[in-house]
Parts: sequence; structure tokens; C-alpha cells
Amino acid sequence: MDVGIAESAADAASTAADLIQRAVRAKPEVVLGLATGSSPVGIYDELARRLSDGGISLAAASAFMLDEYVGLPPDHPQAYRSVIEDKFTRKVDIDPAHVHGPDGTADDVEAACADYEQAIRAAGGIDVQILGIGTDGHIAFNEPSSSLASRTRIKTLTRQTRIDNSRFFDGDLDAVPSHCLTQGIGTILEARQILLIAAGSAKAEAIRQTVEGPVSARWPATALQLHPAVTVLLDPAAASRLD
Ligand code: F6R
Repeated sequence: MDVGIAESAADAASTAADLIQRAVRAKPEVVLGLATGSSPVGIYDELARRLSDGGISLAAASAFMLDEYVGLPPDHPQAYRSVIEDKFTRKVDIDPAHVHGPDGTADDVEAACADYEQAIRAAGGIDVQILGIGTDGHIAFNEPSSSLASRTRIKTLTRQTRIDNSRFFDGDLDAVPSHCLTQGIGTILEARQILLIAAGSAKAEAIRQTVEGPVSARWPATALQLHPAVTVLLDPAAASRLD
């Protein structure tokens, strides 16, 4: 695991964008794995800026989202499909038809999850997976006690994650869905390269466990220690509990 401590969250995002830019230059038809939430927004802004400068093009790329709430229609402003469009894909030249997400409205959830795994495989797998991390150490929505071998499936969100995410729902905890479809930890570990970005002291303990703790389903992100190509980019506050 390569751990980089940047001077600021903006610097961490810029370093992450460098890594993605290199991957896109090496393989224009790169398959990106996209996280939602606030952590990757700086990366997405930086990639959009580089696109308008002509430094990068995602015209041949495709993307797979990590997760989606269950029960929100895709055009709901907080559905991850809408959020990723708003924060990233509408600002770059990626073909919207090549941006995929789990179907949180499917009647047959199991089939939707199996189809999603198959779509990732058919695309040749994910080249660069962008991850944020929850305060409880979740990656995607693999909450504590998730199997480290898990695949895309339905999960119940913990109360803590719903509280953390209620800021996107005007602070209304009841409006935050209770379930989601999420790539599993086993799915994420199949990406060729993984880039985790975290900022702020609320993430410091989860980062300490991820980097220095024993591998355990208690802190799902510790599974990243098993992957050969993980880069963790932090601001000083997120890194503040590292030895
Ligand atoms: C979102 C996702 C989650 C978030 C995590 C951190 O697609 O997979 O694991 O990365 O909840 O969220 P933020 O970045 O909002 O602190």
C-alpha cells in the first residue's frame, strides 16, 4: 500500500488526478470505477479542468459506479446515478451510455446484482477504482462485518452511515434510504489499481485501521492490504492518527 500525505485535500486530489491521467494516456479505453460522496469531488473537478485544458479525454473510457441507493428513482437528485452525472460525467466527454451503475429500482435485486458483475467482467474489469472511506471503515457500502470475499449485493446501511449521509438529504435522517446495492469487497479487490482518497479528522481512525490495523471485517477497508496496487492519498487531518 502506498500512502501519500499531501499538504491539503486539494493537493491530494491533484495527485490522484495525475495518476488517473497517466492511466488514461496509457489506455484511452480505460475502465474507471467511480465513488460518489464528497471525497472524490476534488478529483472529478480536477479531471474536468484538465479536460477543458486539453490534457485528457475520456471519450473512449467507460465507468462503473460502486453503489446505488435502493428505492430512489434514477432522476432523484440524491440517487448516485444523478450525483455522479452532476459532479462528474456531465463535465467530461465520457459517453453517458458508457457510465454504468447498479439498478436500485430493480424488482429482481439478485438478478440486477448478478447482471452488474457480468457487465464489469464483459468490460474487461476495472482498471482504476476510485474509493472514499466511511467513518466506520466501509468501502463502497460494505459496512463492518461484510465478507471480505463479497460480491455485488443488497446491503442495509448502518445508522452511522445514514447519519453521515443525511447531510445530503437536508439533514433529514428519515429521507436517507435504508438499503443500497453495492459492489462487494471481492469485486473491488479485482480492480487492477485502487486509489483511496480521504480528508478530514473524521476519517482519521478509519485510515489508521486501514493502513496499520489487522485485516478484519470489523474495518472493511483493511481488505485493501491484500491488494498489490493500492494508493492512499490523505490530507494531514485524515493522516493524523498514523504512526
Ligand atoms: C460512495 C461510497 C462510500 C463513500 C463513503 C465516504 O459511492 O462508496 O463508500 O465513499 O461513504 O463518503 P464521503 O466521501 O461523502 O465522506
